[in-house]
Amino acid sequence: MPYPTRITLNTPLDMHLHLRDGEMLHNIAQASAHTFSGAIIMPNLVPPVTTKEEVVAYRARIEEAIGDETFTPYMTLFFKPSYDRAFLESIKEEITAIKLYPAGITTNSEGGVSGFDVEDLRETLEAMSDLDIPLCVHGETNGFVMDREAEFVSIYERLAAAFPRLKIIMEHITTKESVAALDRFENLYATITVHHLFITLDDVAGGMLQPHLFCKPIAKRPEDREALLKVALAAHPKVMFGSDSAPHPREAKESCGCAAGVFTAPIALQLLTELFETHNAPLENLQKFISGNAQNIYGIMPPAKTVILEKHPFTVPESYNGVVPMYAGEEIKYTITEVSDG
Ligand code: NCD
Ligand code: ZN
Repeated sequence: MPYPTRITLNTPLDMHLHLRDGEMLHNIAQASAHTFSGAIIMPNLVPPVTTKEEVVAYRARIEEAIGDETFTPYMTLFFKPSYDRAFLESIKEEITAIKLYPAGITTNSEGGVSGFDVEDLRETLEAMSDLDIPLCVHGETNGFVMDREAEFVSIYERLAAAFPRLKIIMEHITTKESVAALDRFENLYATITVHHLFITLDDVAGGMLQPHLFCKPIAKRPEDREALLKVALAAHPKVMFGSDSAPHPREAKESCGCAAGVFTAPIALQLLTELFETHNAPLENLQKFISGNAQNIYGIMPPAKTVILEKHPFTVPESYNGVVPMYAGEEIKYTITEVSDG
Protein backbone atom coordinates (compact mmCIF):
# COMPACT_ATOMS: atom_id res chain seq x y z
CA MET A 1 0.00 0.00 0.00
CA PRO A 2 1.43 3.43 -0.86
CA TYR A 3 2.28 5.59 2.13
CA PRO A 4 -0.03 8.56 2.72
CA THR A 5 1.58 11.95 2.03
CA ARG A 6 -0.09 13.44 5.12
CA ILE A 7 0.51 11.55 8.34
CA THR A 8 -1.02 12.07 11.77
CA LEU A 9 0.84 11.08 14.91
CA ASN A 10 -0.85 11.15 18.29
CA THR A 11 0.62 12.06 21.64
CA PRO A 12 4.31 11.49 20.86
CA LEU A 13 6.55 10.65 23.81
CA ASP A 14 10.31 10.88 24.14
CA MET A 15 11.34 8.37 26.79
CA HIS A 16 14.94 9.63 27.19
CA LEU A 17 15.64 13.34 26.93
CA HIS A 18 18.31 15.75 28.16
CA LEU A 19 16.72 19.16 28.72
CA ARG A 20 19.73 20.61 30.60
CA ASP A 21 19.35 23.71 32.75
CA GLY A 22 19.75 27.49 32.75
CA GLU A 23 20.30 29.16 29.40
CA MET A 24 20.56 25.87 27.50
CA LEU A 25 17.21 24.71 28.90
CA HIS A 26 15.63 27.92 27.67
CA ASN A 27 17.28 27.56 24.28
CA ILE A 28 16.19 24.01 23.54
CA ALA A 29 13.06 23.22 25.61
CA GLN A 30 10.63 24.33 22.89
CA ALA A 31 12.15 21.91 20.40
CA SER A 32 10.72 19.03 22.45
CA ALA A 33 7.76 20.67 24.16
CA HIS A 34 6.13 21.83 20.94
CA THR A 35 5.85 18.46 19.24
CA PHE A 36 5.96 15.94 22.10
CA SER A 37 3.32 15.36 24.77
CA GLY A 38 5.92 14.48 27.34
CA ALA A 39 9.38 13.11 27.97
CA ILE A 40 11.43 11.29 30.54
CA ILE A 41 13.85 13.95 31.74
CA MET A 42 17.41 12.87 32.47
CA PRO A 43 18.90 13.94 35.82
CA ASN A 44 22.57 14.35 34.81
CA LEU A 45 22.80 18.04 35.64
CA VAL A 46 25.82 19.49 37.41
CA PRO A 47 25.36 18.55 40.24
CA PRO A 48 22.99 15.66 39.44
CA VAL A 49 19.38 15.63 40.64
CA THR A 50 19.41 13.55 43.84
CA THR A 51 16.93 15.10 46.28
CA LYS A 52 13.21 15.84 46.39
CA GLU A 53 13.88 19.56 46.54
CA GLU A 54 16.06 19.34 43.42
CA VAL A 55 13.47 17.35 41.47
CA VAL A 56 10.69 19.78 42.37
CA ALA A 57 12.80 22.83 41.59
CA TYR A 58 14.07 21.38 38.29
CA ARG A 59 10.52 20.55 37.20
CA ALA A 60 9.49 24.13 37.96
CA ARG A 61 12.37 25.50 35.85
CA ILE A 62 11.34 23.19 32.98
CA GLU A 63 7.72 24.31 33.23
CA GLU A 64 8.81 27.90 33.15
CA ALA A 65 10.98 27.27 30.07
CA ILE A 66 8.24 25.48 28.10
CA GLY A 67 5.70 28.25 28.72
CA ASP A 68 2.28 27.50 27.23
CA GLU A 69 3.14 24.24 25.51
CA THR A 70 1.24 21.13 26.60
CA PHE A 71 4.07 18.91 27.73
CA THR A 72 4.59 16.70 30.77
CA PRO A 73 8.14 16.44 32.08
CA TYR A 74 8.39 12.97 33.63
CA MET A 75 11.11 13.55 36.19
CA THR A 76 13.88 11.18 37.22
CA LEU A 77 16.42 10.99 39.99
CA PHE A 78 20.12 10.18 39.60
CA PHE A 79 20.57 6.70 41.12
CA LYS A 80 22.55 6.39 44.36
CA PRO A 81 22.89 3.08 46.25
CA SER A 82 22.31 5.08 49.42
CA TYR A 83 18.62 5.74 48.63
CA ASP A 84 16.62 3.87 51.24
CA ARG A 85 12.96 2.86 51.34
CA ALA A 86 11.82 5.81 53.43
CA PHE A 87 13.47 8.25 51.04
CA LEU A 88 11.99 6.51 47.99
CA GLU A 89 8.52 6.49 49.58
CA SER A 90 8.82 10.21 50.22
CA ILE A 91 9.78 10.99 46.61
CA LYS A 92 7.68 8.45 44.70
CA GLU A 93 4.97 10.94 43.66
CA GLU A 94 7.52 13.37 42.23
CA ILE A 95 9.36 10.98 39.92
CA THR A 96 8.60 8.51 37.14
CA ALA A 97 11.89 6.60 37.18
CA ILE A 98 15.43 6.54 38.54
CA LYS A 99 18.40 6.67 36.18
CA LEU A 100 21.51 4.65 36.90
CA TYR A 101 24.85 5.64 35.36
CA PRO A 102 28.04 3.65 35.74
CA ALA A 103 30.56 6.10 37.25
CA GLY A 104 32.24 8.31 34.67
CA ILE A 105 30.82 6.54 31.62
CA THR A 106 29.30 9.59 29.92
CA THR A 107 28.54 13.31 30.31
CA ASN A 108 28.13 14.32 33.99
CA SER A 109 28.06 10.76 35.36
CA GLU A 110 31.02 10.97 37.75
CA GLY A 111 28.80 10.30 40.79
CA GLY A 112 27.42 7.05 39.34
CA VAL A 113 27.79 3.41 40.39
CA SER A 114 31.13 1.57 40.43
CA GLY A 115 30.99 -2.20 40.40
CA PHE A 116 27.63 -3.93 40.17
CA ASP A 117 27.52 -6.09 43.26
CA VAL A 118 23.87 -7.05 43.66
CA GLU A 119 24.16 -6.95 47.45
CA ASP A 120 25.36 -3.32 47.38
CA LEU A 121 22.30 -2.38 45.36
CA ARG A 122 19.77 -4.67 47.01
CA GLU A 123 18.11 -2.32 49.49
CA THR A 124 17.50 0.40 46.93
CA LEU A 125 16.43 -1.88 44.09
CA GLU A 126 14.11 -3.95 46.27
CA ALA A 127 12.41 -0.82 47.52
CA MET A 128 12.10 0.49 43.95
CA SER A 129 10.64 -2.83 42.90
CA ASP A 130 8.08 -2.77 45.75
CA LEU A 131 7.18 0.85 45.02
CA ASP A 132 6.97 0.19 41.26
CA ILE A 133 9.63 2.75 40.33
CA PRO A 134 11.33 1.74 37.06
CA LEU A 135 15.14 1.69 36.82
CA CYS A 136 16.58 3.27 33.67
CA VAL A 137 20.16 2.19 33.00
CA HIS A 138 22.99 3.53 30.88
CA GLY A 139 24.37 0.08 30.11
CA GLU A 140 28.06 0.34 29.30
CA THR A 141 31.13 -1.13 31.01
CA ASN A 142 34.42 0.72 30.85
CA GLY A 143 35.87 -1.83 28.41
CA PHE A 144 36.80 -1.31 24.76
CA VAL A 145 34.41 1.28 23.37
CA MET A 146 32.78 -0.96 20.73
CA ASP A 147 32.26 -3.78 23.27
CA ARG A 148 31.02 -1.82 26.28
CA GLU A 149 27.33 -2.35 25.73
CA ALA A 150 27.56 -6.04 24.83
CA GLU A 151 29.70 -6.57 27.93
CA PHE A 152 27.06 -4.89 30.06
CA VAL A 153 24.39 -7.40 29.02
CA SER A 154 25.55 -9.84 31.71
CA ILE A 155 25.02 -7.08 34.29
CA TYR A 156 21.50 -6.49 32.97
CA GLU A 157 20.85 -10.21 33.28
CA ARG A 158 22.16 -10.32 36.82
CA LEU A 159 19.94 -7.39 37.86
CA ALA A 160 16.90 -8.70 36.00
CA ALA A 161 17.24 -12.12 37.67
CA ALA A 162 17.90 -10.73 41.15
CA PHE A 163 14.97 -8.26 41.03
CA PRO A 164 12.34 -9.97 38.84
CA ARG A 165 9.57 -7.46 39.57
CA LEU A 166 11.75 -4.39 38.96
CA LYS A 167 11.17 -2.81 35.55
CA ILE A 168 14.61 -2.30 34.03
CA ILE A 169 14.89 -0.09 30.96
CA MET A 170 18.01 -0.64 28.89
CA GLU A 171 18.50 2.91 27.66
CA HIS A 172 19.50 3.85 24.11
CA ILE A 173 20.45 0.33 23.04
CA THR A 174 22.83 0.04 20.09
CA THR A 175 23.67 -3.65 19.74
CA LYS A 176 22.18 -6.94 18.63
CA GLU A 177 23.19 -8.39 22.01
CA SER A 178 20.92 -5.96 23.87
CA VAL A 179 18.06 -6.66 21.46
CA ALA A 180 18.46 -10.39 22.13
CA ALA A 181 18.41 -9.84 25.91
CA LEU A 182 14.95 -8.23 25.68
CA ASP A 183 13.23 -11.53 25.14
CA ARG A 184 15.20 -13.47 27.74
CA PHE A 185 13.85 -11.56 30.74
CA GLU A 186 10.28 -10.47 31.28
CA ASN A 187 11.37 -7.35 33.19
CA LEU A 188 13.83 -5.97 30.62
CA TYR A 189 12.66 -3.17 28.31
CA ALA A 190 14.54 -0.78 26.02
CA THR A 191 14.60 2.64 24.46
CA ILE A 192 16.04 3.25 20.99
CA THR A 193 17.16 6.61 19.62
CA VAL A 194 16.49 7.91 16.13
CA HIS A 195 20.19 8.39 15.34
CA HIS A 196 21.05 4.78 16.13
CA LEU A 197 18.37 3.71 13.64
CA PHE A 198 20.00 5.85 10.93
CA ILE A 199 23.76 5.74 11.46
CA THR A 200 26.60 3.31 12.11
CA LEU A 201 30.17 3.99 13.22
CA ASP A 202 30.97 4.59 9.56
CA ASP A 203 28.87 7.74 9.58
CA VAL A 204 30.68 9.01 12.68
CA ALA A 205 34.27 8.18 11.85
CA GLY A 206 34.43 6.40 8.48
CA GLY A 207 35.22 9.59 6.57
CA MET A 208 35.87 13.05 7.98
CA LEU A 209 35.10 12.91 11.71
CA GLN A 210 31.51 14.04 12.40
CA PRO A 211 31.38 15.53 15.90
CA HIS A 212 27.62 16.10 15.76
CA LEU A 213 27.08 12.34 15.40
CA PHE A 214 29.36 11.46 18.31
CA CYS A 215 27.53 10.13 21.34
CA LYS A 216 27.61 7.51 24.05
CA PRO A 217 26.98 4.73 23.35
CA ILE A 218 28.85 5.15 20.07
CA ALA A 219 26.98 3.98 16.94
CA LYS A 220 27.92 0.38 16.11
CA ARG A 221 27.95 -2.00 13.12
CA PRO A 222 25.42 -2.43 10.30
CA GLU A 223 24.21 -5.73 11.78
CA ASP A 224 23.53 -3.98 15.08
CA ARG A 225 21.52 -1.29 13.34
CA GLU A 226 19.58 -4.04 11.54
CA ALA A 227 18.69 -5.65 14.86
CA LEU A 228 17.48 -2.30 16.22
CA LEU A 229 15.48 -1.59 13.07
CA LYS A 230 13.79 -4.95 13.25
CA VAL A 231 12.33 -4.38 16.73
CA ALA A 232 11.57 -0.68 16.18
CA LEU A 233 9.75 -1.17 12.87
CA ALA A 234 7.81 -4.08 14.32
CA ALA A 235 6.98 -1.99 17.42
CA HIS A 236 8.17 -4.78 19.68
CA PRO A 237 6.01 -4.18 22.79
CA LYS A 238 9.06 -3.84 25.08
CA VAL A 239 10.70 -1.16 22.95
CA MET A 240 10.03 2.60 23.08
CA PHE A 241 11.37 5.65 21.33
CA GLY A 242 13.78 7.66 23.48
CA SER A 243 15.75 10.27 21.56
CA ASP A 244 18.66 10.72 23.97
CA SER A 245 18.68 14.18 22.41
CA ALA A 246 21.67 15.64 24.24
CA PRO A 247 22.47 19.23 23.28
CA HIS A 248 25.89 20.76 23.81
CA PRO A 249 26.98 24.25 22.72
CA ARG A 250 28.61 24.28 19.28
CA GLU A 251 32.00 25.10 20.84
CA ALA A 252 31.86 21.96 23.01
CA LYS A 253 31.21 19.76 19.98
CA GLU A 254 33.48 21.37 17.39
CA SER A 255 36.56 21.30 19.56
CA CYS A 256 39.51 19.24 20.61
CA GLY A 257 37.79 16.87 23.06
CA CYS A 258 34.30 16.70 21.57
CA ALA A 259 31.43 16.30 24.09
CA ALA A 260 29.26 13.20 23.59
CA GLY A 261 25.65 13.78 22.57
CA VAL A 262 23.54 14.17 19.43
CA PHE A 263 20.85 16.87 19.29
CA THR A 264 17.82 15.38 17.52
CA ALA A 265 14.76 16.75 19.34
CA PRO A 266 13.58 19.10 16.54
CA ILE A 267 13.81 16.50 13.76
CA ALA A 268 13.11 13.20 15.52
CA LEU A 269 9.49 12.72 14.47
CA GLN A 270 10.21 13.72 10.87
CA LEU A 271 13.10 11.25 10.65
CA LEU A 272 11.16 8.42 12.27
CA THR A 273 8.32 8.94 9.79
CA GLU A 274 10.84 8.86 6.95
CA LEU A 275 12.34 5.67 8.34
CA PHE A 276 9.01 3.86 8.62
CA GLU A 277 8.11 4.98 5.11
CA THR A 278 11.43 3.83 3.66
CA HIS A 279 10.86 0.38 5.13
CA ASN A 280 7.16 0.43 4.30
CA ALA A 281 6.40 -0.41 7.93
CA PRO A 282 2.82 -0.03 9.20
CA LEU A 283 2.00 3.43 10.54
CA GLU A 284 0.27 1.84 13.52
CA ASN A 285 3.67 0.48 14.51
CA LEU A 286 5.17 3.96 14.35
CA GLN A 287 2.37 5.13 16.62
CA LYS A 288 3.14 2.34 19.10
CA PHE A 289 6.87 2.99 18.95
CA ILE A 290 6.50 6.71 19.66
CA SER A 291 3.70 6.50 22.22
CA GLY A 292 1.58 3.40 22.85
CA ASN A 293 4.34 1.09 24.05
CA ALA A 294 5.70 3.69 26.45
CA GLN A 295 2.23 4.34 27.89
CA ASN A 296 1.82 0.63 28.53
CA ILE A 297 5.27 0.07 29.97
CA TYR A 298 5.31 3.09 32.27
CA GLY A 299 1.55 3.19 32.94
CA ILE A 300 1.42 6.91 32.13
CA MET A 301 -1.40 8.95 30.62
CA PRO A 302 0.15 11.90 28.80
CA PRO A 303 -1.87 14.87 27.55
CA ALA A 304 -3.21 14.32 24.02
CA LYS A 305 -1.50 16.07 21.14
CA THR A 306 -1.89 15.73 17.38
CA VAL A 307 1.10 16.21 15.09
CA ILE A 308 0.62 16.32 11.32
CA LEU A 309 3.51 15.71 8.96
CA GLU A 310 3.51 16.15 5.21
CA LYS A 311 5.85 14.69 2.70
CA HIS A 312 7.72 17.73 1.49
CA PRO A 313 11.39 18.42 2.06
CA PHE A 314 12.57 20.26 5.15
CA THR A 315 16.03 21.75 5.31
CA VAL A 316 17.36 21.20 8.81
CA PRO A 317 18.55 24.53 10.28
CA GLU A 318 22.30 24.99 10.80
CA SER A 319 21.68 25.69 14.46
CA TYR A 320 18.94 26.04 17.07
CA ASN A 321 20.06 28.84 19.38
CA GLY A 322 23.70 27.81 19.13
CA VAL A 323 23.15 24.05 19.15
CA VAL A 324 23.87 22.16 15.95
CA PRO A 325 21.30 19.43 15.24
CA MET A 326 21.88 16.12 13.53
CA TYR A 327 21.76 16.56 9.74
CA ALA A 328 22.23 20.36 10.00
CA GLY A 329 21.88 21.95 6.57
CA GLU A 330 20.65 18.73 4.99
CA GLU A 331 17.27 17.99 3.50
CA ILE A 332 14.96 15.50 5.18
CA LYS A 333 11.77 14.18 3.63
CA TYR A 334 9.02 15.20 6.04
CA THR A 335 7.88 18.54 7.44
CA ILE A 336 5.72 19.07 10.51
CA THR A 337 2.85 21.24 9.31
CA GLU A 338 0.48 21.29 12.27
CA VAL A 339 0.54 20.63 15.99
CA SER A 340 -2.57 20.85 18.15
CA ASP A 341 -3.67 19.82 21.59
CA GLY A 342 -6.19 17.04 21.87
C1 NCD B 1 24.47 12.37 27.14
C2 NCD B 1 24.65 13.81 27.63
O1 NCD B 1 25.29 14.60 26.91
O2 NCD B 1 24.14 14.14 28.69
N1 NCD B 1 25.41 12.11 26.11
C3 NCD B 1 25.33 11.14 25.16
O3 NCD B 1 26.27 10.98 24.40
N2 NCD B 1 24.24 10.41 25.00
C4 NCD B 1 24.58 11.44 28.28
C5 NCD B 1 24.12 10.05 27.97
O4 NCD B 1 22.92 9.78 27.84
O5 NCD B 1 24.98 9.18 27.83
ZN1 ZN C 1 21.13 10.19 27.60
